[in-house]
Amino acid sequence: MLRRSVGSQREQAAGGLHSRGRGLKLSPSRLSSLAGEKVRNPVAMARTYRIAILPGDGTGPEVIAEGRKALQAAARRFGFALETHDFDFGGERYKRTGECLPDSAIAELRGFEAIYLGAIGHPEVKPGILEKGILLRLRFELDQYINLRPVKLFPGVETPIKGKGPAEINFTVVRENTEGLYAGAGGFLRRETPQEIALQTSVNTRHGVDRCLRYAFAYAERLHEREPWRGLRPEEIEAGLRSQLTLVGKTNVLTFASDLWERRFHALGAEHPTVKRDYAHVDAACMWFVKNPEWFDVIVTDNMFGDIITDLGAMIQGGMGIAAGGNLNPEPGGVSMFEPIGGSAPRYAGQGVINPLAAICAGAMMLETLGERAAAEAIERAVAGVTAAKLKSLAAGRMGFSTSQVGDLVAEGVA
Ligand code: IPM
Ligand code: MN
Repeated sequence: MLRRSVGSQREQAAGGLHSRGRGLKLSPSRLSSLAGEKVRNPVAMARTYRIAILPGDGTGPEVIAEGRKALQAAARRFGFALETHDFDFGGERYKRTGECLPDSAIAELRGFEAIYLGAIGHPEVKPGILEKGILLRLRFELDQYINLRPVKLFPGVETPIKGKGPAEINFTVVRENTEGLYAGAGGFLRRETPQEIALQTSVNTRHGVDRCLRYAFAYAERLHEREPWRGLRPEEIEAGLRSQLTLVGKTNVLTFASDLWERRFHALGAEHPTVKRDYAHVDAACMWFVKNPEWFDVIVTDNMFGDIITDLGAMIQGGMGIAAGGNLNPEPGGVSMFEPIGGSAPRYAGQGVINPLAAICAGAMMLETLGERAAAEAIERAVAGVTAAKLKSLAAGRMGFSTSQVGDLVAEGVA
């Protein structure tokens, strides 16, 4: 993603490129080591990625269809292949079968290199069932412990923040994705009585906090390998700083959870001397997202705070129509899942009015994570071209184009 680059997880995890060992992604050296075996069909030797597609509910299938166009255009141009397999997990299947995910689903999904998800949420299914049964279960069981959410204002996109443009609104939130209030720890006492007690416990493990912080520091470091973040003062650059990582917490109230985060932030940060360590309370961070978004470079935070501030982030970057996210398992062999962060928007479903750019950008993040950086950048450039010169608005129904026309415009820009 131009500046907000995910980087190849594999490069990062392994300190170099490595293949998932499915035998399809062959490096030139691997190819030459096969010398002697006749390569009969060079096309069959192209890098091939196996992608699980979960279009899901509401507008999910419509935006995923447009994402596929961009992905296929990038594959053709950059010489790789996508082998896709569709899954029908979502509200309709649940209504039919009473099941969110079949027992075999997780094991089966582990066999793919990435998952491309549309949206989960159905107006006829009680809130919580599909979200927990599908989306959160996949995040947890595939151990996608990072939720990476770039907040980037594309050219030509209107932001509600007066006087701010693409130069000011360009940061990334690294959200912990498997713990905190999402862990499901809690329960009721004396339910449905006047003395009822409801407990919902935030779970913060040192293991979980550390791995999230490590990812965030490494990400911040990688982001400015070429040029330092422009928010740094000259004397900070002089002193060797290149990027900034802001821990968002609530140390003045959450004196256990935020304390663990803060201690580990400084302990692990000592190993990353080029990253400036910064801290903001979550309420103040919300204020500054609106008042001074240019103060942020990379943010790291827990699951619940990350959920909340990235909806605010989505609004300042022009809305849910453009906000993409990656649920990453950055470990070697980990399976990550990419999605537009908005919901299934049932009231817009089936009308061809929903904005597919968030799904398209999620597809670009997926390619970047798979190691196809040039392809990811080509998609991002095409999206920027479309926002700058074509779309009237990013809002559903007001784009001046239909969902599939927007997908066509991006695909043409990629080709
Ligand atoms: C998101 C969503 C999910 C979350 C819901 C649908 C469970 O809001 O991806 O941000 O809270 O993580
Ligand atoms: Mn959310």
